[in-house]
Amino acid sequence: MAPGVRVALAAALWIVLLGPAAGDERTHQYKIGEPVILWVNKIGPYNNPQETYNYFYLPFCRPVPKSGKERNWGNLGEVLEGNELVNSGLAIKFRENITKTEFCSQPLDGNQAERLQRAVRDRYWYEMFVDELPMWGFVGEARRSPESGKSQEQIYLHKDFRIGYNKDRIIEVALGCNDLVPLQPGVDLHFTYSVSWVETDVPFTRRFERYLDQGFFEHKIHWFSILNSFLMVVFLIGVVAMILLRTLRKDYAKYTLDLNDMDSLEQEISEESGWKLVHGDVFRPPPRLPLLSALVGTGVQLSVLFFFVLLITIAGTLFESRGTILTSLIACYTITSLIGGYTSGGFYARHGGTAWIRTMVLTACLFPGALFLIAFVLNTIAIAYHSLSAVPFGSIVLVLLLWAGISLPLCLAGTVLGRNWAGIPSTPCRVKRIPSAIPCKPWHLTPPAIILASGLLPFGSIFIELYFILTSFWNYKVYYVYGFMLLVWTMLLIATVCVSVVGTYVLLNAENYHWQWTAFLASASTAAYVFGYSAYYFIYRTTMTGLLQTCFYYGYTLMVCLGLGVSCGAVGYFAASTFVRQIYRNIKCD
Ligand SMILES: *[C@@H]1O[C@H](CO)[C@@H](O)[C@H](O)[C@H]1NC(C)=O
Repeated sequence: MAPGVRVALAAALWIVLLGPAAGDERTHQYKIGEPVILWVNKIGPYNNPQETYNYFYLPFCRPVPKSGKERNWGNLGEVLEGNELVNSGLAIKFRENITKTEFCSQPLDGNQAERLQRAVRDRYWYEMFVDELPMWGFVGEARRSPESGKSQEQIYLHKDFRIGYNKDRIIEVALGCNDLVPLQPGVDLHFTYSVSWVETDVPFTRRFERYLDQGFFEHKIHWFSILNSFLMVVFLIGVVAMILLRTLRKDYAKYTLDLNDMDSLEQEISEESGWKLVHGDVFRPPPRLPLLSALVGTGVQLSVLFFFVLLITIAGTLFESRGTILTSLIACYTITSLIGGYTSGGFYARHGGTAWIRTMVLTACLFPGALFLIAFVLNTIAIAYHSLSAVPFGSIVLVLLLWAGISLPLCLAGTVLGRNWAGIPSTPCRVKRIPSAIPCKPWHLTPPAIILASGLLPFGSIFIELYFILTSFWNYKVYYVYGFMLLVWTMLLIATVCVSVVGTYVLLNAENYHWQWTAFLASASTAAYVFGYSAYYFIYRTTMTGLLQTCFYYGYTLMVCLGLGVSCGAVGYFAASTFVRQIYRNIKCD
């Protein structure tokens, strides 16, 4: 993308979506001797990324801040992701070295000692920010003492900050922890810090590269996996094209023959089987039409939304700042509600539905409602644990307002537009008055079997990327290869289209005309496999423990899988629908 467009996009996003940053953190430029604020964010056990608490949840003493705000409330996404920056109170001045200095001290009573010991045993780590750059450190370490041979919890008292600068900007921050002291009731803890400023010539624009694990993400295996998926998708397309072209040509040829050979027509038709027999039923409106309309509408909306957010993320390198991707997702969701309403309204009208309000409300509420329900459960658990992952009331109200004030009206408008502009039914074959009976077929030709089998191939095309995504999301790695994600997402959709078409063909050939839900569910079933893989990952590849973390893991996974399923389902449905329309267009229906 051209640099101009990129800058404009990023600037627009910044202005519309991001909350105000404190003072010079907005410009990222400092004068010599100007105060630089050290923010502390969250603290929690290393194995449980979502089990986070406010830094001062542990009994740390805290100096009174001399400069800057007390708290830094960030943008919406940042708050929803469970960040809350608190001023550490440590005095740091731009380009002024500080030798080892005590910033506060506290006597340790029995209760505090025990809490800190537990934190050290659970390998508590914390996150700090200087000028929007994160750094991490451990609270302490359990060391085996040489005399008794018993393991003993010790706490780091000294924090050594090394800050790299380039002219008037901060380029890199690093935190070193030293001075281990045994945690025993009655000792005095003297917390110290030191700051050294080191000049560097890394330009400001490349300061985030330190956080990107290029060895991991740009590993050969990653490239191989992309190539692998690509070949698989090409192969799949080839197979689909071959099967369909050959089979359909044969089908059509037979049909033309029948028409010419009038004598044997009667006999041929009675003997004939396959998809042509159900031409009078295939365009029958699907059962539970409002629900399917809502799902298909939402799915198209989510596909467009995901595509947009990926593009914005790649263009604006949004992964560099906290919560920005989530904020963009929410903002884009509200705007794309128009697309959801339009698709759902048009779909519903084409099938001659009349329960408008119900469809509209379903489209607007189904997906956000499901997410809200999951979030509500997670939030309740987080509040019970006093975790920072609990979303503050104000943010909940803001999200609800966004939904009710923008998303809902847009969905309504979209429904009306879709109904008027895209609602004219045009089917190649008329629907018979009386539905035909569906013959009994072997199990592998029934919808459940087709649905289950269909998810496997698309899942196969993404599961290595899935490994990278899960590993970065649950293991403190910054996922930055969104170009890969876009590629894999595209391949997933292509694979879904192929599989959906084949599944529909198999189903119609079995003289089963309930293809609409089957096509939707067959495409959506990829998400079920993704969920299964995530469960496997949780059990065998992570060491998370506790109710809170388990619930957050499965809750987040469920949210993502719901979105993925609906989105793939809609794409698969439209592929199947186009296919069905196409094959019946070329035969004479009655
Ligand atoms: C600050 O400390 C660093 C590292 O010890 C040193 O390289 C640098 O020259 C010092 N800066 C000043 C202004 O003393």
